[in-house]
Amino acid sequence: MSSSDERHDPAADSNESGVSRRKFLQGTGVALTIPLVAGGEKVVKAAGAEVKIFGPEKVNITLNINGSPKQVSVEPRATLLDTLRNDLDTTGAKRVCDRATCGACTMIIDGKPVYGCTTLAIEAQGRKIETVESLAAGDKLHPVQQAFWDNDAQQCGFCTPGFVMACKALLDKHPSPTDEQIEMGVGGNLCRCGTYNGIKGAIAQASATLKKGPAKLTRGGKSNG
Ligand code: FES
Ligand code: FES
Repeated sequence: MSSSDERHDPAADSNESGVSRRKFLQGTGVALTIPLVAGGEKVVKAAGAEVKIFGPEKVNITLNINGSPKQVSVEPRATLLDTLRNDLDTTGAKRVCDRATCGACTMIIDGKPVYGCTTLAIEAQGRKIETVESLAAGDKLHPVQQAFWDNDAQQCGFCTPGFVMACKALLDKHPSPTDEQIEMGVGGNLCRCGTYNGIKGAIAQASATLKKGPAKLTRGGKSNG
């Protein structure tokens, strides 16, 4: 897929103080950072705002993962991907490049596809985190997963969980995606096995299935789906 991508950039997010990390770093280049202590919390003043400082010791956080609150103790530098995989036994998202290049770690946060390898666990607090584990209902695959299966859209499978989540986010936003929207939606994911044609077929199938909706029972109990 192309390099174009509408993947969410957590570096552009605002934190609780209203200062994005990017602006914070830019601000510290031109302004003094003044350590403060407010109510027992460590904070610094930068770019005209107070910014909380965590660590270096572990901090207790709660993450909302697939609809359930999970408490975990992590170092502030821990990524969301490593926290999920190493501390919370949630290993669907894969760690491949670990540097925001391949998309194998893609998960959905507050409705947007995000690289878990470049998102800190502490910045995911209070946000809705969806991983590939949330999709299947028992033995019944989600339509996107079923479409990958039906279209032979995987070989080694290492990229597949990330692609599935990117495709789900794409179809949630664009139920009938154009070619350009598909390029944008999955452009941040790479498949070294070259299954791109199968993935395009899977997107088309999942789009059709999801638009049709769940099968409805007709009079007499027969399914129309
Ligand atoms: S492991 Fe996160 S983008 Fe490759
Ligand atoms: S199926 Fe092997 S990397 Fe995509």
